[in-house]
Amino acid sequence: MKIKALTAIAAVLLSAPAFVAADEDAELIVNGEIEMVTKTAAAPHLEGALDEVLSGWLFRADETQSLQADDFDNPGMIFVDQGMDDWGTVDGSEGKSCASCHGDVEDSMAGIRAEYPKWNDTAGEVRTMAQMINECRVDRMGAEAHGYTSAKMARMEALISVQSRGMPVNVAIDGPAADMWAQGKEMFYSRTGQLELSCASCHEENYGNRIRSDHLSQGHINGFPVYRLKNAKLTTPHGRFKGCVRDTRAQTYSPGSDDFVALELYVASRGNGLSVEGVSVRN
Ligand code: HEC
Ligand code: HEC
Repeated sequence: MKIKALTAIAAVLLSAPAFVAADEDAELIVNGEIEMVTKTAAAPHLEGALDEVLSGWLFRADETQSLQADDFDNPGMIFVDQGMDDWGTVDGSEGKSCASCHGDVEDSMAGIRAEYPKWNDTAGEVRTMAQMINECRVDRMGAEAHGYTSAKMARMEALISVQSRGMPVNVAIDGPAADMWAQGKEMFYSRTGQLELSCASCHEENYGNRIRSDHLSQGHINGFPVYRLKNAKLTTPHGRFKGCVRDTRAQTYSPGSDDFVALELYVASRGNGLSVEGVSVRN
């Protein structure tokens, strides 16, 4: 590791001694019925990198953790309700709503969030859930695309995610998705910016440590979209990536860009085996 990178880490980490993961044995059972796997053996592709994968939920303070245990306390659930209204609302030149084609969201979207990003044969590329939502809006409804990290997109993603809560993340990384996955992996380990930090510098080498006023997790996206207490809004995966890249003082990519899709595919696959938690609650 370069001296400069070491200095940069030292500058941002307030303390770097013992591994201080929050209560690793804490259990998350949502609404007294959905048992979440917040800690599990890492997927084989993480051999040599991580033995265990830990949900970001484990790194939150008790009060934040408990907000996620009950939908009445989870402030993100309001956005799920709004997403439900959108689901049944006709929009665009074709006079259709999501429900016109997909029917009940509970039936048609169960399991979807667990597998995305995913190779799409028709399109011949890896697609994120957000891209599928916009494809349906533009090509099938004659409606306007939602901004990639907009509030409307985030709440539709929230509605769809909730249908998979408790299911294990199961993102495919082989077959036609392999090239993009490799690209995402390279991004994850590339040091960028003035601070010369990679995603791994913080989320693999330093998870459990404190950074500024925060507690570093492994940076998984099984809880996305997340409700952030900081700004009382939902944050999407690319919105979060953008913030993290900016923190390394690097030029960031645009949400929805091929680069961020590749990064999302790779990051999602690191969380394989953890439960889909979205909508989760974070700082
Ligand atoms: C005119 C019919 C139609 C409408 C309206 C429509 N969709 Fe779709 N949707 C489809 C079809 C067909 C597919 C499969 C496309 C594919 O796999 O390439 C699809 C796929 C999807 C997928 C990916 C599902 C999977 O199995 O991987 C999501 C997510 C989705 N739609 C969300 C939405 C949302 C949200 C809306 C409303 C904003 C919507 N759709 C409106 C027809 C529609
Ligand atoms: C300088 C350290 C640092 C770097 C480098 C960094 N992050 Fe983060 N990241 C954080 C902090 C701090 C948080 C908030 C606490 C947490 O969950 O780790 C965070 C949170 C996240 C989360 C949310 C996790 C959750 O459960 O809510 C994701 C996802 C994430 N980062 C991905 C990335 C990716 C991808 C990269 C590389 C492009 C990256 N981060 C680079 C510091 C960093």
